[in-house]
Amino acid sequence: MAKLKIVELKQVDSTNDYLKKHYQELPSFTVVRTDYQTAGRGQFERRWNSARGKNLLFSLLLKDVPFDQIITIKEWVKSSIFSLLGSYGLDVYFKEPNDVYVDDKKICGILIETKSTEKNFEYVIVGIGLNVNQLLFSGFKATSLTILTKKMLNVRSVFSKLIANLLESYF
Ligand code: BTN
Repeated sequence: MAKLKIVELKQVDSTNDYLKKHYQELPSFTVVRTDYQTAGRGQFERRWNSARGKNLLFSLLLKDVPFDQIITIKEWVKSSIFSLLGSYGLDVYFKEPNDVYVDDKKICGILIETKSTEKNFEYVIVGIGLNVNQLLFSGFKATSLTILTKKMLNVRSVFSKLIANLLESYF
């Protein structure tokens, strides 16, 4: 089973950007979680805004990844998130390229970024933003675990469950 190094930060620009800056000195399977991002990013150059301390925001660093593993990585992350959300009784579905929805509202977004060399991906960074306790999403069709389960949840426990799912199902 893979061994994780977990870094927790009160605030950072973006957990994906943190790993991009520091990947050379960090081991593969480093996870960075934060309570707040000042410049959280989504797909297609969009911003990823999240209320402080309310949601799960983290990124996972994988190093020296063979090119042909990228699809497996995406499936691995997706199925770990599905099994987490299923454990709260939610019926979720995936919208390409990387969004998880309940009903017609987004609950989780995934941002996968890579750096290639001639022989492999020097890094694959998987950033996950999962709405946990946020109640209001002005202007967005979004939802959260709390809205759907009507329970306030501990973000760290949700994080631990997702990490356990990832570790258990690592290919
Ligand atoms: C999307 O739906 O467009 C993807 C959103 C990904 C957001 C997460 S939050 C943690 C990580 N750090 C970022 O800056 N983005 C990802």
